[in-house]
Amino acid sequence: MTERTKLIIGNWKMNPKTSKEALQLFKEISVAQKKVRKIYVGICAPTIYLSELSKIKGKSTKFLLGAQNMFYEESGAYTGEVGALQLKNIGIDIVLIGHSERRALGETDVDLNKKVKSALKRAITPIICIGENMRDGSVWYLSTIKTQLENVFDGIPKSALKNIVIAYEPVWAIGKDAVREATPEESLEMSIFIKRTLSHMYDEKSAHAMKILFGGSVNTQNAESYLRHGGIDGFLVGRDSLVLKSFAKILTIADTL
Ligand code: PGA
Repeated sequence: MTERTKLIIGNWKMNPKTSKEALQLFKEISVAQKKVRKIYVGICAPTIYLSELSKIKGKSTKFLLGAQNMFYEESGAYTGEVGALQLKNIGIDIVLIGHSERRALGETDVDLNKKVKSALKRAITPIICIGENMRDGSVWYLSTIKTQLENVFDGIPKSALKNIVIAYEPVWAIGKDAVREATPEESLEMSIFIKRTLSHMYDEKSAHAMKILFGGSVNTQNAESYLRHGGIDGFLVGRDSLVLKSFAKILTIADTL
């Protein structure tokens, strides 16, 4: 992935219900992906569908298939888990690490740090999700983000940064129960803050080379203004990645900017 090329990732979460529907939607999205030229597109699908989707994905290096989670060990007595090597062996390119819905199930920064290292070892691009749960008018949320970054990047060498993507998702703006949408200014503030924090941890050049995505109620109405004013390189899209027309429109918006 070149530095400033936009990246739009769909997170299907625990949808759709059947493999037939998953294949259909994936095929339709791949048609939409072929119509855009400049951007990278990714789909993070439920693990159970990945193998089949990988077979029909095609060879485009600009169309990426991803998992929504992985375990940090590669094999062994870990009932119910799937590791980076297994994902790599079926052709997976990217993996969400630390989505807020996984953190809510008990994943800690320590787990996520190990997962990032394991994904990098197998050349799977980790999409590290960070974000504060709520805002109360003070600026404590900045220290939440700083702590998440420091923990998840612990021991990760500077040379790996170009292979990592950050998705900033304010948890209060995610999903149908979102408090409200974040503003592009809020996205911009956080993008600057994330780059500044990583500049202090590494250096400015490496920090600025990393892609930062925004996620949380991204839709066809707000996509353009986030991309123009939000200081970000693309999106992690939940609900609207399951609606072909909307997702295709978001891809076109990103491609024409
Ligand atoms: P949403 O989900 O677009 O439905 O708000 C985003 C996400 O959870 O990644």
